[in-house]
Amino acid sequence: MASEVRGVVARAKGQPVSIETIVVPDPGSGEALVRIKTCGVCRTDLHYRDGAIGDGYPFLLGHEAAGVVEAVGDGVANVVPGDFVVVAWRAPCGSCRSCRRGRPWYCFDSQNAAQAMTLLDGTALSPALGIGAFTELTLVAAAQAVKVDPRARPEAAGLVGCGVMAGYGAAVNTGGVSEGDTMAVIGCGGVGCAAVAGGSLAGARRVIAVDVDPRKLEWAARFGATDVVDASATDPVDAIRALTDGFGADVVIEAVGLPSTYRQAFLARDLAGTLVQVGVPDPTMTVELEMIELFGRGGALKSSWYGDCLPSRDFPVLIDAYLKGRLDLDGFVTEVISMDQVEEAFAKMLRGEVLRSVVRM
Ligand SMILES: NC(=O)c1ccc[n+]([C@@H]2O[C@H](COP(=O)([O-])OP(=O)(O)OC[C@H]3O[C@@H](n4cnc5c(N)ncnc54)[C@H](O)[C@@H]3O)[C@@H](O)[C@H]2O)c1
Ligand SMILES: [Zn+2]
Ligand SMILES: [Zn+2]
Repeated sequence: MASEVRGVVARAKGQPVSIETIVVPDPGSGEALVRIKTCGVCRTDLHYRDGAIGDGYPFLLGHEAAGVVEAVGDGVANVVPGDFVVVAWRAPCGSCRSCRRGRPWYCFDSQNAAQAMTLLDGTALSPALGIGAFTELTLVAAAQAVKVDPRARPEAAGLVGCGVMAGYGAAVNTGGVSEGDTMAVIGCGGVGCAAVAGGSLAGARRVIAVDVDPRKLEWAARFGATDVVDASATDPVDAIRALTDGFGADVVIEAVGLPSTYRQAFLARDLAGTLVQVGVPDPTMTVELEMIELFGRGGALKSSWYGDCLPSRDFPVLIDAYLKGRLDLDGFVTEVISMDQVEEAFAKMLRGEVLRSVVRM
């Protein structure tokens, strides 16, 4: 029988979110019902509320979640009821053109639940990033539920489901940061700080954190930044060069999503260095670069989608690093709130006061 639970819904563009009763079907073939324990508030939820990701209202927000599998449908082999899971917004299909080329971390046809969750009047909800986790129960494709060590605190573990994985993976998977490299991260919010943590775990010898907000630079230092640059006071390109013997960093991560910071990241690389763009631009933005510089500096200009992660491979690794005290996931949890405080959390996010507000259901 379908369940009725509470969930945080964005009904119309730019309007405050509301708590609604939602109807969650029992899991069908290949689906899993997950009892959500916690879910982080990510900027992407705000983008959904504000109409920047389409107009499929009503949206069921939330996508950075940890919970326990409540029930599974037919043909599910990866999880059983009682498993502690982090929910992923990528579940490779195994058969799209990217999966067939052996690159499932780009999967172009990621799996989601086939059945819709609805409002009481039957209106289908669009779940944020195919998850929808500011709710007591959510329905996902079973492959989206990734089993991890249940000793991890849910408030911290759930963050691996989006922001932490995106930043960590941007450094380690997309940027390929490894032992002895120099790296810089421009924009040290939740995603940038996770890139700092990832690069530092991977053995980067210099991790330069750049932000315009001194509070963010303090946080980045806690996650392993060896140097910090206040871009509101200093030119970040000059500063990064000065900190790398005048050459620039091997890998520069752009985690803001602006043309100005993209250009800084491009110029702050060493010759043949790598730029990783993880910040999401708005659709009107353009970048102008001199072609001779594109050619002359060489290297790679990459985008990182969800840290090029393979959730079933990477989530358990990050959770293990957390449990061994090597990855400070607790450091991302600025506050734990209740479902009716999501609007306040958006406001705090816009004022730069939090790395993550985490909703406990
Ligand atoms: N690629 C992906 O898969 C993926 C996944 C999640 C989030 N994101 C994107 O990553 C970006 C960062 O997300 P977040 O949650 O960390 O956001 P955030 O708002 O917490 O962090 C952005 C940071 O950039 C800083 N900043 C703003 N202007 C700057 C400037 N000119 N120079 C230097 N720093 C500046 C801010 O002070 C802030 O600390 C967003 O664009 C988000 O949409 C991408
Ligand atoms: Zn695929
Ligand atoms: Zn997110």
